[in-house]
Amino acid sequence: MDLTNNTILITGGTSGLGYEFATRLLDLGNTVIITGRDQVKLDQAKARLPKIHTFQSDVSDPKAIALLYQQVTSRFPELNMLINNAGEMRKISLHNTSIDLSDITREIEINLMGPIRMVQQFLPHLKTKKTAAILNVTSGLALIPFPLSPIYGASKSGLRSYTQSLRVQLKNTNIKVFELVAPGAKTPLNDKFATEKGFDEKILMDPVKLIETAVNGLMKDKLEIYPGLARVMKIMSRIAPKLLLSQTSKVGGTSIY
Ligand SMILES: NC(=O)c1ccc[n+]([C@@H]2O[C@H](COP(=O)([O-])OP(=O)(O)OC[C@H]3O[C@@H](n4cnc5c(N)ncnc54)[C@H](OP(=O)(O)O)[C@@H]3O)[C@@H](O)[C@H]2O)c1
Repeated sequence: MDLTNNTILITGGTSGLGYEFATRLLDLGNTVIITGRDQVKLDQAKARLPKIHTFQSDVSDPKAIALLYQQVTSRFPELNMLINNAGEMRKISLHNTSIDLSDITREIEINLMGPIRMVQQFLPHLKTKKTAAILNVTSGLALIPFPLSPIYGASKSGLRSYTQSLRVQLKNTNIKVFELVAPGAKTPLNDKFATEKGFDEKILMDPVKLIETAVNGLMKDKLEIYPGLARVMKIMSRIAPKLLLSQTSKVGGTSIY
């Protein structure tokens, strides 16, 4: 797709991959709108990228999505691309009885229900555009479980499945459906894992390079984009899934099980 002169909404654009996406897409001559929960982080992003537009919005809250839709489409009726990027990843022991029943599914609400609801809300608007696109950010951990973060993996596998169905259902429309299968990257999301036994920070990809690969993939209409180690994970998950699971199971040792 042509990545100039679009109007693009990125959920979770205040740090990490979302922020790098925003930076690169602004450079390419697009109008870029970002969201996040934390107004301070939104203001900091605006200070660093003055051309950006910001909206405080929590993707796990259906009412916030409905309000965001009204605000964004009234100010930016030309909106033609949605990047579902906002996400969270926690380490969770399933033995921990202090996690209550609503908290245990938080990553499902942000990483899976968030994109599903965003698409449901914005789809009729995107259909009115000559060309439009939806990009869902999944993960190499959609391809193989990561037992230290069991709910995160479930959310990303679910998002990958949903994205494939969405692509089929939209095949006769003006909307292209992309999936960015992101490998581990040096972003704040991984800070809490840095000290985990068996976690090798050296394998984390530079987010600038990751987003460069993603942007090149979008420009070439690659519907599934596998930067860096994500491509290796894709192959390994097909030919040696048990070996790959035994490797991801080592991270964290037995500290939380
Ligand atoms: N980094 C990796 O290794 C990696 C690998 C594969 C896939 N991914 C995926 O890439 C995406 C971006 O992750 P990242 O590494 O860039 O993480 P990050 O640096 O922690 O950034 C996450 C962004 O999402 C926002 N966010 C979180 N929860 C939100 C919510 N409920 N509503 C709205 N915004 C929310 C955060 O802002 P607020 O906290 O202010 O809301 C922040 O802007 C995620 O979907 C993640 O799962 C990351």
